[in-house]
Amino acid sequence: MNIIHVLFRSSIGKKVTMAVSGFILFGFVVGHLSGNLQIFAHPDKINAYAHFLESLGPALWVIRLFLLVTLVVHVWLAAQLTIENKRARQKNYEKQVTLRATMASRYMRVSGVIVFVFIIYHLLHFTVRVTHGAEAYPTTILADGTPVRDVHSMMVLGFQNPVIAIFYLLSVGLLSWHLAHGLVSMFQSLGLRTRTWSRFLERVTIVVCVLYFLGNALIVVAAMSGKVRIQNPSVLGFACRTDCEVCGARTADATAETLDGSKESQS
Ligand code: HEM
Repeated sequence: MNIIHVLFRSSIGKKVTMAVSGFILFGFVVGHLSGNLQIFAHPDKINAYAHFLESLGPALWVIRLFLLVTLVVHVWLAAQLTIENKRARQKNYEKQVTLRATMASRYMRVSGVIVFVFIIYHLLHFTVRVTHGAEAYPTTILADGTPVRDVHSMMVLGFQNPVIAIFYLLSVGLLSWHLAHGLVSMFQSLGLRTRTWSRFLERVTIVVCVLYFLGNALIVVAAMSGKVRIQNPSVLGFACRTDCEVCGARTADATAETLDGSKESQS
């Protein structure tokens, strides 16, 4: 019996593979959130971070491919286990399945499908950058003069649209719920959920997932409500006449011309 057979064909192997792939995806979303929280610092911070990731070139593609394969494996095994469970129930093998467990796994599937649709939209929105016109994807210049994509403004512009902001909030909410149940199942599948610490595990999981939701929600709400503002002069309708603080070079009089020709101070 080879390893592929054990991991992808046997029922226990499928559950363990789902648990491990789920854990990798969980690691990604937490890392992604910590990167996104840089939106609360100076725009250069998150723009330089995105630029750094892009500069990884082929290594970034290896990471992307690895994540994609992990996601496909996770979704594919979830579908397989669902079909197997249905078949088993039809044959009356699982008379003892409680209503609660059935509802939870149904919600896991529904939330999983919605999160999957969200990921597709999200990639088209922020990575492929095709859901909006070119004005939604501005560029800027870092303090050291490096021209970069202005991910900071791109995010704020995206969430200024309440429909998109609410869609993100709902999706991240569902993802958090999905994670809360998924993490507990993960420990169960790996044989690490014992009677003694089952309750503690559930509580810790809930706290982690609520914090995860709040972190994401904070970004969306701060951008939507104007707490985090666009600072890129060209996005705001300014054409910098002299180097200014926003662009990085610190000159005393940072006057700029609006696009219609009138002068404004940038302070
Ligand atoms: C409020 C929540 C979120 C925000 C603000 C956000 C923001 C972003 C931004 C700005 C990018 C593009 C980065 C760049 O252009 O360099 C991005 C990419 C990405 N996001 Fe999110 N994201 C959020 C939630 C999520 C969630 C929940 C997932 C997964 C379930 C996710 C998965 C991804 C992936 C896979 C990429 C592509 C990374 C790459 O290959 O470059 N994001 N996100």
